[in-house]
Amino acid sequence: MINKTEILDAYKYRHACKLFDTNKKVSDSDMNFILETGILSPSSFGFEPWHFVVVQNPELRSKLKDSAWGATAKLDTASHFVLGLTMREPLMKYDSQYIEDFMRDIQELPENVIEQKGSMYETFQKSDFDLSDDRKLFDWASKQCYIPLANMMTSAAMIGIDSCPIEGFNQSKSEKILKDDLGIDTNLYGLSYMVAFGYRVNEPRPKTRRTLEKVVTFK
Ligand SMILES: Cc1cc2nc3c(=O)[nH]c(=O)nc-3n(C[C@H](O)[C@H](O)[C@H](O)COP(=O)(O)O)c2cc1C
Repeated sequence: MINKTEILDAYKYRHACKLFDTNKKVSDSDMNFILETGILSPSSFGFEPWHFVVVQNPELRSKLKDSAWGATAKLDTASHFVLGLTMREPLMKYDSQYIEDFMRDIQELPENVIEQKGSMYETFQKSDFDLSDDRKLFDWASKQCYIPLANMMTSAAMIGIDSCPIEGFNQSKSEKILKDDLGIDTNLYGLSYMVAFGYRVNEPRPKTRRTLEKVVTFK
């Protein structure tokens, strides 16, 4: 078990880092560790509706700046810059080949369980959560993709690496860049967020948060 004070210190250490030290690079093994903590995240039915693209090519980073106003300094200075993609309807719908293959090949479920779980997933999408159109389904899948985002930023902080989550971009313009320049099939994936990793240049201002008493109600 990890010491609680050390865990809280890591949460306090994490901040939305605006500018990274261009002389310091996150090692491959640290970056893989961060990504590994992301993919260990929970997801609804365990279907892992995410994909991560690590953009290191300076020309591609420069292209992304055109549509990502909240990311410009991070695209210029971050050691590693990750795009958080979310699966769209052709992959996430209850009757997709992805879902069937996933239950068989990744979750290694027996045939009768695949049938039962598939039928539960169908009911869930049709009536429990009303995921009846592409947008609803994308937003539902996208919510899950923020869990790895949080886990990656926290695990990075635990090993002294800074990060910044980014939604400051135009979704359709950025997705056009994804399609035209990064070879992503945007019928299958949408862009939920970007996240930069590296080492801080400046110390952040002290954290401000509402107190536990204000935010939590015990009944
Ligand atoms: C979903 C999300 C999107 C964000 N988008 C941006 C962004 O585009 N650019 C930026 O500099 N910070 C962005 N932030 C960082 C927030 O402004 C920051 O987390 C918040 O002010 C709290 O500060 P702290 O993270 O330093 O504690 C984003 C945070 C989240 C969770």
